[in-house]
Amino acid sequence: MVHQTAAEVAAHADHPPQAPLQTEEFRAVRPQIVGSESPEAPFPIFIHGPVQHGFGRGKDLGCPTANLPDESMAPLSTAVETGVYYGYAQVVPPKDEKVQFREEDLKVLPMVMSLGWNRFYKNEKLTAEVHIMHEFQSDFYGLEMRAIVLGYIRPELDYTSREALIDDIDIDKKVALNSLNRPAYRRYANDAHFNLDSTN
Ligand SMILES: Cc1cc2nc3c(=O)[nH]c(=O)nc-3n(C[C@H](O)[C@H](O)[C@H](O)COP(=O)(O)O)c2cc1C
Repeated sequence: MVHQTAAEVAAHADHPPQAPLQTEEFRAVRPQIVGSESPEAPFPIFIHGPVQHGFGRGKDLGCPTANLPDESMAPLSTAVETGVYYGYAQVVPPKDEKVQFREEDLKVLPMVMSLGWNRFYKNEKLTAEVHIMHEFQSDFYGLEMRAIVLGYIRPELDYTSREALIDDIDIDKKVALNSLNRPAYRRYANDAHFNLDSTN
């Protein structure tokens, strides 16, 4: 079956598309690691852009997310279907604002991201939201975020409870870490897409 890319769905749907409901059966068969030993086309996908405010619900879910503007998500949304993805990301402040950040906040860090309409929250618009797996000291709205998307984890789902969504995101994070912990993926943490000057 040929899946439509997220951008194709966004261009043709006059209302947000449906997503399948999460079930315990789906949870029970989730793999702990995804993708082959090295990233396969269309990955790696390189994205970057200024971090925008989302609805702010991510913090409440225990996973704050950095939203990217439409033009920044285009390399991803025109290449893949909606769903949950993993890779690396980095916050890159302008040189004169670097002092406000701890060195560990500016490293290349593992991330999970959602590309979709967040069915559980019934968003009207396609969004790309990156959750960087790190405790940041401060917010970084407006700053440049750079990311490399290396693989697909699962489809976007609808949920009957917030707890079930939180549980699935927890599993997504573990799957992402397991999947990145392979040499052909790890090497992207040192890719020239990132600012590696004093951060690694
Ligand atoms: C790894 C990850 C997986 C997600 N999976 C889903 C999903 O399957 N269904 C869904 O409705 N929302 C999903 N979300 C989106 C959350 O609902 C969203 O990030 C949250 O509402 C925060 O959005 P906000 O920053 O705009 O408030 C996921 C988010 C992340 C980071």
